[in-house]
Amino acid sequence: MSSTNIKIFDTTLRDGEQVPGCKLNTQQKLVIAKQLDVLGVDVIEAGFPVSSPGDFESVSKISKLVKNATVCGLTRAVKNDIEVAAEALQYAKTPRIHTGIGTSDFHINFKFNTSRKDIIQRAFKAVQYAKSFVEDVEFYAEDAGRTDNEYLAKVCEAAIKAGATVLNIPDTTGYCLPSEYGAKIKYLKENVKGIDKAILSCHCHNDLGLATANAIEGVIYGARQIECTINGIGERAGNTALEEVVMVLKQHPYLNMDTNINTSKLYATSQLVSENMGIYTQPNKAIVGANAFAHSSGIHQDGMIKNRNTYEIINPKDVGVTKSAIVLTARSGRAALAYRAKNVGYNLTKLQLDVIYNSFLRIADTKKVVLDNDLHQIIESSKLYNEIKAVS
Ligand code: KIV
Ligand code: ZN
Repeated sequence: MSSTNIKIFDTTLRDGEQVPGCKLNTQQKLVIAKQLDVLGVDVIEAGFPVSSPGDFESVSKISKLVKNATVCGLTRAVKNDIEVAAEALQYAKTPRIHTGIGTSDFHINFKFNTSRKDIIQRAFKAVQYAKSFVEDVEFYAEDAGRTDNEYLAKVCEAAIKAGATVLNIPDTTGYCLPSEYGAKIKYLKENVKGIDKAILSCHCHNDLGLATANAIEGVIYGARQIECTINGIGERAGNTALEEVVMVLKQHPYLNMDTNINTSKLYATSQLVSENMGIYTQPNKAIVGANAFAHSSGIHQDGMIKNRNTYEIINPKDVGVTKSAIVLTARSGRAALAYRAKNVGYNLTKLQLDVIYNSFLRIADTKKVVLDNDLHQIIESSKLYNEIKAVS
């Protein structure tokens, strides 16, 4: 049975760039957009054209540059926003306008001070107007995560009637539990009239650390697009991390879903975004963190040296990391020491290993990590040094 293709909508350059202090200039955005295209994302949300002349310029230049992906621009449900986005996207091979409005009672009562009925009318008009410029119009129901499902279904119906090709269901505040978010997508699949004319998209924020889980639950219950960012960057606690959802789908073949992402480019893309944004990626970050394939405790290292599958569920090469690391610390055992000694050129016998292991532990207790240089020093200062054979 052929697998279901899940579209990857990258919003690093729009939602991701909303991280305070991480603003990119146009040149940096072009470099990242080019890499996203090479990575194989289906849609690049290039910016919010009406928000500033700089963003307009970036969206316009990205539209000219990108060869494969759809280029998308964000708007509010406001005529001028839509006109400006259409102008910025005019050179894109496949342009998409992403328009929408808040649908939760919090947004309706406090942000717009209006009625549910008025929101439906504004949603309809915005999509209809966007449709007069481009064929591909995505509608977002902001704060859909806290919008009651019955009303949300009516908003979605109006957007479809106006011609929306994609319905984005954002958990804007990162509030939903995976079961709730999955149930929401299921409800919409089953209750929105005309739902077959559009695809549902998951856009999840990470305020409770559930953004990846929610997006996965969304596709399990029928969504066909995931909106995400490289390294999970974005407003507050960030968005669904692209590298995480892509690898979840790849590593769980029984879900029978795939993406068009060339996963061997994930690590390089992560580094590029991190360097350009000046935002450091936490070492324990799944898939792309510095420690994602590093093993430091003796028990794990022993298993890893015998067979990688004992402690790794992903081959690091699959995500563009050259190899797993056996890190020497005071928690490391003899197997790791022998392995790393061999890597730097020494074949230790059992007796030599016992002696050198004791010197190693003394040094390791004073340092966070024992490096190759330290290892050379430990071995060269050993009384057994002259008997140690070099790796042939
Ligand atoms: O989180 C959100 O609701 C958004 C929309 C503007 C799509 O980013
Ligand atoms: Zn968002």
